Amino acid sequence: MNLTKDKLNGLINGNNGELLEYLNPSNDIKTLAFALNKLGRLPKNFDGKYFVPLTKHPNEKIRLLAIKNIGKLCNEKYLNLLNDISLHDENTMVRREAISSIGRMRTNEAIPILIDRLNDPDPKVILQVIRGLLVFKDNELIKNKLKELVNHPNEVIQTVIEEKYYNISENKPHREHSKSPDYLKNVVVNGDVLEVLKLIEDESIHLTFTSPPYYNARDYSIYQSYNEYLEFLRDVFKEVYRITKEGRYFILNTSPIIIPRVGRQYSSKRYPIPFDIHPFLIEMGWEFIDDIVWIKPEASAKDRNSGFRQHRKPLAYKPNAVTEYIMVYRKKTNKLIDWNIKQYDDETVKASKVHGEIDKSNTWFIDPTFDRTHTAVFPLELCLKVIKYYSFKNDLVFDPFGGSGTFCKAAQLLDRFFFSTEISKKYIVRMKENIAQESFFDTLFLPKFYTMLEFSKIVEENK
Ligand SMILES: C[S@@+](CC[C@H](N)C(=O)[O-])C[C@H]1O[C@@H](n2cnc3c(N)ncnc32)[C@H](O)[C@@H]1O
Repeated sequence: MNLTKDKLNGLINGNNGELLEYLNPSNDIKTLAFALNKLGRLPKNFDGKYFVPLTKHPNEKIRLLAIKNIGKLCNEKYLNLLNDISLHDENTMVRREAISSIGRMRTNEAIPILIDRLNDPDPKVILQVIRGLLVFKDNELIKNKLKELVNHPNEVIQTVIEEKYYNISENKPHREHSKSPDYLKNVVVNGDVLEVLKLIEDESIHLTFTSPPYYNARDYSIYQSYNEYLEFLRDVFKEVYRITKEGRYFILNTSPIIIPRVGRQYSSKRYPIPFDIHPFLIEMGWEFIDDIVWIKPEASAKDRNSGFRQHRKPLAYKPNAVTEYIMVYRKKTNKLIDWNIKQYDDETVKASKVHGEIDKSNTWFIDPTFDRTHTAVFPLELCLKVIKYYSFKNDLVFDPFGGSGTFCKAAQLLDRFFFSTEISKKYIVRMKENIAQESFFDTLFLPKFYTMLEFSKIVEENK
């Protein structure tokens, strides 16, 4: 059978009988799928009887396409057939398509059927039912039924209902999205991040990128226990959430660490930091967006498998760790990214475009950087990528664990304002060397380094 799209177009407007030849259930799957897929828009008087036997076809793709075509007819006489399929077909996608076709009819007759399907065991089907019912937005019965779904166990259903009926953020006055407080621009505070963050107003910053202390793996951070460490980070990231603008990003660089063994009879302990932080970030409202893996050259990693290479005995294998995670989160919002972009003028959007080669995949190959003062610095290249991909020119970008100030330096290079905190005086000295003292792009906001006391006064003055 030599079937083309043009030929099908001719057939749907002409002799339906000839079409039967192509929609015959005994045809091979490829021909049937082609015909059903390419039928396009159907004329009002098109007879849907050709599709009916195909809704029982053993192949689910054919069943789904047949139902899709029935849906295009928007004919109430198929309501019972579609309802039956939505209840009994063994394939979820087929059942969902049946609901979609019922929804397309936009007829009052469909309401009881759709309401009944709100009890479907599959959340994907329920979401389709919700779409169909939302068409009748003034119907009180439907409104009440849908509102009840806020307690549905599925999180996507809950979110859809919350946004539709319980959206409080809509009424919240928004600080102008593209702007940020001047007194935070190009400022570094030498103090405990938690103390500093208490002083910062809600929704002040556009982007946070940070690499927190590595539990007790390096000398600058001593916690009583791993739990205490995680609790500390939880408190910090909760504050970061509060001061982040709606729909903006938090990018976290961590990796599992090893605390070396205390003696030959003990083993070293590995802590899966990114995986332990992730659940509480989600709980506090950060939405998971991406996991980017930073890959370093093998030569830069500590050799952990020399023993294994000799004896080759199973269970003792330990790969060399050449990766770190760059976890990408977004502050919860019901707005699309487009909304965030529209908060900027055209000139800023144009000036912030990311030109040249881009990283197409979530693996970024970057050499580590070694610093004479700080033991764990960001490579400048890593900061430049993150800032370019996740912020606009003139945004206020934040690193709560500033260290040597590489992130601030990258912000300067890309015409963003930085704000950072760092507890150690020694690293503040290193930061001062790293951050250019003259800003080429904005002479109004030359870099400032404050003690906690000085910063509290600045905050007071700006209240
Ligand atoms: C992994 S390092 C960050 C290095 C940084 N990304 C860089 O490029 O240099 C973590 C930093 O957090 C700092 N730090 C630890 N606890 C802190 C706290 N409570 N408040 C502020 N900074 C803290 C440490 O002194 C250290 O410099």
